[in-house]
Amino acid sequence: MAPTVLHLRSEDKPLEHRSALTPTTAKALIDAGYTVNVEKSPVRIFDDEEFSKIGATLVPTGSWRDAPKEHIIVGLKELPEETFPLKHVHVQFAHVYKNQGGWENVLARFPRGGGTLLDLEFLQDPETGRRVAAFGYSAGFSGSALALKSWAWQLTHPNEPLPGVESYPNEDALISDVKADLAAGKEKAGRLPRVIVIGALGRCGRGAIDMCLKAGVPKEQILKWDMAETAKGGPFKEITESDVFVNCIYLASKIPHFVNVESLKTPGRQLSVVCDVSADTTNPNNPIPIYTVATTFKKPTVPVEGLDGGPPCSVISIDHLPSLLPRESSEAFSGDLLPHLLKLNNWRNEPVWSNAEKLFQEKVASLPKEVLN
Ligand SMILES: NC(=O)c1ccc[n+]([C@@H]2O[C@H](COP(=O)([O-])OP(=O)(O)OC[C@H]3O[C@@H](n4cnc5c(N)ncnc54)[C@H](O)[C@@H]3O)[C@@H](O)[C@H]2O)c1
Repeated sequence: MAPTVLHLRSEDKPLEHRSALTPTTAKALIDAGYTVNVEKSPVRIFDDEEFSKIGATLVPTGSWRDAPKEHIIVGLKELPEETFPLKHVHVQFAHVYKNQGGWENVLARFPRGGGTLLDLEFLQDPETGRRVAAFGYSAGFSGSALALKSWAWQLTHPNEPLPGVESYPNEDALISDVKADLAAGKEKAGRLPRVIVIGALGRCGRGAIDMCLKAGVPKEQILKWDMAETAKGGPFKEITESDVFVNCIYLASKIPHFVNVESLKTPGRQLSVVCDVSADTTNPNNPIPIYTVATTFKKPTVPVEGLDGGPPCSVISIDHLPSLLPRESSEAFSGDLLPHLLKLNNWRNEPVWSNAEKLFQEKVASLPKEVLN
């Protein structure tokens, strides 16, 4: 039987350096008998040569459009905005299942061309219902890094907002940078920050804690909370008594506020940085109603308004935190996905993939008739 061919797209968004396949996972697929074609990419964090060295075939940027119908197209984020019908099986995050703007026209391209979408956001372990691969760990790790940088910056540059940041070539570079900032902050404050992480048992929470530890925050200064600790209902003085709060919960329902503008007015407040990794910014149930806008790498913080007195408090609410560390976040994500990628040669009989196809068919069935022509 001819080997199954996976075709890795070059991402289309200029700042998207992450990749669904990495040289490590591509090599594992090739070793298992797959052919891996990799589009040359001007944006990917991995150089084209890193792929050719492990036996992948480099193909022109954008050549997925003309690839034979049976090749499986693998990518990370949305396809470029085009309208031609799609004939392939596509593995990617498409962001079209939650009524996002324009979802009908994008999704309709698949049934119009006889193609299939296997959306990475909805790949679940059939036994536990948990996602098989997600970017949470890297999000918490990066969010915590920016929160620590912001704490130090407030001390060394009072009244100036944290400047923009760009993605780091690797984790070590980020850790060194945060360590240097913390050393400068410690010189001013006479100590390192106290940090509280809520949602500490989840993917983002584990990443947030690991960053603090790798940056040198003593473990006794990291408060790790999850469901048990918040069950009593907030607002929590343990948050206002900490210097930095990293929120990593998965918000499933309305819960009491963890912190709000009133609780920030508590005399003696220490809290000066909040990183809302969960970034439920516009969700009416957001348990951190102290800010209203998503922030970006270019402008990472917003001040909390209406505090009248006390130290300033900055909020970071970036919704694409893993892009700060494209190399490691891609490795972690692709590594978690690998056991399932290895089953793509028989995907119709593998529950993780066949359930994703079932969901695709359900969503296609909900499309308005007029977009199918
Ligand atoms: N900002 C970003 O770039 C980014 C990237 C990835 C994920 N996220 C978001 O981060 C959130 C967490 O993702 P995850 O993959 O870590 O989820 P997860 O399910 O692995 O972990 C969530 C944790 O939150 C805990 N939790 C839930 N409600 C809580 C409460 N009321 N009090 C205390 N703990 C509570 C859970 O017990 C769990 O341990 C999600 O909303 C996700 O969309 C953001």
